[in-house]
Amino acid sequence: MSVSLLSSCNCRSMGKGFFISKTVGIVGIVLGAGALATIIALSVVYSQEKSKNNENEVKPTDAVTSVPTTEPSNEPWDQWRLPQTLSPQTYNVTLWPRLQPDPTGLYIFTGMSSVVFRCVEKTNLILIHSNKLNMTMQPTLTALGSKPAPTIESTVMHTKTQYMAIHLKDELIEGESYELYTEFVGKLADDLGGFYRSEYYENGVKKVVATTQMQATDARKAFPCFDEPAMKAVFHITLLHDPATVALSNGAVMGKVNITVDGNLITRTTFAPTEVMSTYLLAFIVSDFGFIEQNIEGLQIRIFARQEAINAGQGQYALNVTGPILKFFEKYYNVSYPLFKSDQIALPDFSFGAMENWGLITYRESALLYDEEISSTGNKERIVSVIAHELAHQWFGNLVTLRWWNDLWLNEGFASYVEYLGADEAEPDWNIKDLIVLNDVHRVFAIDALASSHPLSSKEEEIQRPEQISEVFDTISYSKGASVIRMLSDFLNETVFTQGLQTYLDHFKFSNTVYTDLWEHLQRAVDNSSGTSLPRTVQEIMDRWVLQMGFPVVTINTTTGQITQEHFLLDPETKPNRPSEFNYEWFVPISWTKKEAAQALYWLLQKTEQLDHMKISGDEWVLANINVTGYYRVNYDNENWQRLLNVLQTSRQSIPVINRAQIIDDAFNLAKAGIIETTLALRTTLFLASETEYMPWESALDNLDYFYLMFDRTEVYGPMQAYVGKQVKGLFDHFTTITNWENVTSGHTDQYNQVNALRVACSTGLEDCTTLVKTWFQQWMENPKVNPIKANLRSTVYCSAIAAGGEKEWDFAWGEFENATIASEKDKLRAAMACATKPWLLNRYLKYTLDSQKIRKQDATSTIISIASNVVGQPLAWDFVRANWEYIFNQYGGGSFSFSNLINGVTKRFSTEFELQQLKQFRDENAHIGFGSGTLAIQQSIERTDANIKWIEKNQKAVLEWFENA
Ligand SMILES: *[C@@H]1O[C@H](CO)[C@@H](O)[C@H](O)[C@H]1NC(C)=O
Ligand SMILES: *[C@@H]1O[C@H](CO)[C@@H](O)[C@H](O)[C@H]1NC(C)=O
Ligand SMILES: *[C@@H]1O[C@H](CO)[C@@H](O)[C@H](O)[C@H]1NC(C)=O
Ligand SMILES: *[C@@H]1O[C@H](CO)[C@@H](O)[C@H](O)[C@H]1NC(C)=O
Ligand SMILES: [Zn+2]
Repeated sequence: MSVSLLSSCNCRSMGKGFFISKTVGIVGIVLGAGALATIIALSVVYSQEKSKNNENEVKPTDAVTSVPTTEPSNEPWDQWRLPQTLSPQTYNVTLWPRLQPDPTGLYIFTGMSSVVFRCVEKTNLILIHSNKLNMTMQPTLTALGSKPAPTIESTVMHTKTQYMAIHLKDELIEGESYELYTEFVGKLADDLGGFYRSEYYENGVKKVVATTQMQATDARKAFPCFDEPAMKAVFHITLLHDPATVALSNGAVMGKVNITVDGNLITRTTFAPTEVMSTYLLAFIVSDFGFIEQNIEGLQIRIFARQEAINAGQGQYALNVTGPILKFFEKYYNVSYPLFKSDQIALPDFSFGAMENWGLITYRESALLYDEEISSTGNKERIVSVIAHELAHQWFGNLVTLRWWNDLWLNEGFASYVEYLGADEAEPDWNIKDLIVLNDVHRVFAIDALASSHPLSSKEEEIQRPEQISEVFDTISYSKGASVIRMLSDFLNETVFTQGLQTYLDHFKFSNTVYTDLWEHLQRAVDNSSGTSLPRTVQEIMDRWVLQMGFPVVTINTTTGQITQEHFLLDPETKPNRPSEFNYEWFVPISWTKKEAAQALYWLLQKTEQLDHMKISGDEWVLANINVTGYYRVNYDNENWQRLLNVLQTSRQSIPVINRAQIIDDAFNLAKAGIIETTLALRTTLFLASETEYMPWESALDNLDYFYLMFDRTEVYGPMQAYVGKQVKGLFDHFTTITNWENVTSGHTDQYNQVNALRVACSTGLEDCTTLVKTWFQQWMENPKVNPIKANLRSTVYCSAIAAGGEKEWDFAWGEFENATIASEKDKLRAAMACATKPWLLNRYLKYTLDSQKIRKQDATSTIISIASNVVGQPLAWDFVRANWEYIFNQYGGGSFSFSNLINGVTKRFSTEFELQQLKQFRDENAHIGFGSGTLAIQQSIERTDANIKWIEKNQKAVLEWFENA
């Protein structure tokens, strides 16, 4: 699965399935959301209704009784995990979604399902997942062997644990197979989970799509099933639908017939049986979408979307890149694509960024649809990255599946790493692989440096309930997972890494694994290789990165040659909230170089070691963690810092561009942790006056965002603006020379930096910039039919103009938002409207997030977060969230990213005692409602606010002085 983006933004940092809403520059005011606030970056509306504890959710029908939630007991139906007594083999599922409401206004689907399972251990209980389904007849049980099946004594629905329990008069016989048949009805709700409906308008006509999102635990909302990833089976799927619609599922269409039901003509589409697969990867979709297709060596590749979008050519880019990426992964994995077709579909309502359903990948529209004229480079990068991510899962995740959700980090971390390799194949000129450092490594550092972080790996028994499963879909799983797998692939080297990967996939295809299975295969590859030797086994090295949270800061003293590692915590006064069996020490692969020396690799295995080679003198310098392939930060003695600063000023080309970004990011974070002076960190930005590369700039702006968050309500603001304005002048002039702002520059990351130049120049009040932006927007308002603003620059221009403007500009943007025909354009406008500076406009906008006719549910939390990023909007958003807590919790509390991001997003500016008290009060007052998947986020917010208070106290004076003198 790929998480979704917070739509705003000038579209930097979009490498993965999400990107950061961050400083959207506006005239005179900077709306920041950076540094620490990168925590809030991932936006997902994962609407699982909270009703898990609602005992009456499934009411008794004639056939089936339901029990109220009882106290926890040892009964199997009170456990969150299925017993190992039964093993599903095949399902035969027929579903009929009604795209018209019934006379009572309810959208429903009906279904019948039979599952053949083998009895592995004798039992008189059939426990099968079923959630929010009403049985319309008594289930029936048939034996497939010679002995008759036991009689059913009773069928009981357990709503809390989401089981249907079928009690039998006699026992099932070990080794025998049985078939359980059920008929049921469910709601086709607009809740973005299980079998749900999505609505949109085309030519003024309301259209309804029936679609699914099963991961992680919602297949049980579509039909009764053994809904755990290791309970793999073959699925025979049939969909009933209106003849004017198209039905899609994981398999290819095998048969299509028209039948008559109650006098109505209905089409019955039957799909080829699936491969052996997990329930969470199923997909069923009925729509009247259009598609485009391509055949590559017998493989059918199709892109589906709303007919308008397909007719406008918006699927073409996705179609163009899919073939090459699939071919790349076939080679990379050394396994051919396991299926006969590859469908990808863009849905108007979709909670995540995308979902890797086997053979039928679902996307939110902005992650699949591209328009040459309207979409930005950032939109394009996001599309190719998300496609690569989901295609990577077709093998890693779908063909070979982790046994349980506690190992999700390997599935998602792996896909989040190789998506860069896949995207690089499709867009080889973009240098996209470098961007993982900004998008994942630096980003997750900010979270993993908190004492309230957590290790990648959890114990199986710690991840049980659906909301616990949701909570593991977090930045640590995705971005830290990606970062440490990249490190692993780097120190093994790519050849050894892929060899181990290939034997792992081959050995475990169609079955399930635990993460150490991969380590074993990598170890074998190491043992068989001639080039790679490790100081410890793969498992011993990786245990330290996987089983303990956080990461080290490696300090290199170039006067003594001493190297030391220490657990890096942003707030040095906090203690990690859990002990580590490895004492917070790591086996650290240190790639390093000296001036004019070749790169070397040194393994730091102890807390402190001595390496005489690192002793230097004169104008020599040492640089470590080349290209940030290692998951750690680096600190040096003062002399070496000074030398590095000199090199940056005088001959920065001798430091790789990624490391120019690293030096800035490390310095700022070391300063935040009190390890080096804040003024030293600020000095790492001096060379930017002549830097034109994107990565260092982006790194600096990310870090300065934190200064804006902390200081934009203080006396520091003026001098800071003056300094940043001075630094960006060169960049702005650079792009003026190249483009005269009439076109976009070539070069992928250069385009991002062009946006940075405009955004920062305008936000620091550079008049050439503000005039430009105002004129463009004015032109557009005067002639709405022709938008003169370049796609890349739109986010920035819209935001600036709306911030400087009033109701007229805002309402114009709203009208354009409602009329926009491509989701990425809607996203830009939606984020820009949060830039308004009139409180009443922002309050009105906040209210819109409660009305799904105005702001789609999938976009509600990210809209609130955008408003909170605005210095004016922040207190309004905080009040709004507090006032509507119960509603918001019920809508989004079960989900993952969106919810914790919401909490982190609205509190990220908090930096006073008063705000800290408010936050704690909020926590205490809502304890009875709860925080669901945001529980950890509340804790993180408190920790962060605490750290902010201390940081300001300690730094304000020195920072003010530095900016005044710089
Ligand atoms: C699935 O069920 C339908 C209707 O119950 C039946 O017609 C069909 O033959 C079944 N298919 C398989 C593969 O069992
Ligand atoms: C299921 O049954 C309950 C209780 O009778 C009812 O409120 C609910 O609407 C039913 N759901 C569907 C989809 O019919
Ligand atoms: C089913 O009926 C529709 C509408 O009459 C028709 O267009 C379609 O070709 C028919 N399909 C089959 C398989 O007969
Ligand atoms: C898709 O590929 C074709 C053929 O190479 C090319 O002409 C077209 O511009 C591409 N479309 C997009 C949106 O990249
Ligand atoms: Zn994924």
